[in-house]
Amino acid sequence: MNSGQASSLPLKIPRHVAIIMDGNGRWAKQRKKPRFYGHRAGVESVEVVLKACAKVGIEVLTLFAFSSENWHRPAQEVQILMNLFKAALSSRLNQFQSQNIRFRVIGDRSGFSKSLQIEIAKAEVLTAKNEGITLIIAANYGGRWDIAQAARKIAVEAKNGQLTVDSITTEVFADHLSLADLPEPDLFIRTGGEQRISNFLLWQLAYTEFYFTDTLWPDFDEAAFILAINSFSQRERRFGRTSEQMKSLYRA
Ligand code: FPP
Repeated sequence: MNSGQASSLPLKIPRHVAIIMDGNGRWAKQRKKPRFYGHRAGVESVEVVLKACAKVGIEVLTLFAFSSENWHRPAQEVQILMNLFKAALSSRLNQFQSQNIRFRVIGDRSGFSKSLQIEIAKAEVLTAKNEGITLIIAANYGGRWDIAQAARKIAVEAKNGQLTVDSITTEVFADHLSLADLPEPDLFIRTGGEQRISNFLLWQLAYTEFYFTDTLWPDFDEAAFILAINSFSQRERRFGRTSEQMKSLYRA
């Protein structure tokens, strides 16, 4: 659903955008090319969208690059995605530094090769103090995994007496999830025509605005991204309150 429309009003800019980058395989198929060709083009779209985010002042961009379920893909495709990730990381590290980008990975990285784990750790450490946009790659990530790992950490803390069972509130729980130190996503985008979350940030998307587009990820350019921002800009977010309450909150 492409509901964004050009507007002359100033845009409301989300602080945090989370994206499921879907459609690389179909994009390649349309061109009678192997799936790898689509994933490689997908890396170029990452670059385009990252630049567009920085340009409009978005603080955090979270991209779903590899889900816990993607291990079920053919071994050759999994290997290609791992190689692309590693190559993109080492070739973009200088760019992260020069553009003040803070880089982070969320997900169970123990599933990756030692060399990829080292590349990830190196990029995170080197960019940790950068104060421009934060780029988060969700890799070997699943929303259910995230909730389970938070529950495990809380259980250990309770066992060690660092917190009591009665003190476990939604806020305490959220503090143990990935992205705990960042604002929750304001806008979720999924390209490629499917309209589902596919085990992405299950907890963190509770109040996020959703935007679905048929555009395949390699075709998702700055203009397509601005359409999504336009659509977000026209939404009224109420967080469970009434429209009138929200208006008086903004007036206050
Ligand atoms: C979904 O398309 C895309 C993926 C599973 C991988 C996304 C990866 C990239 C964009 C490239 C690597 C990213 C980084 C950050 C280096 P699909 O293969 O499911 O497409 P289909 O639904 O058309 O088959």
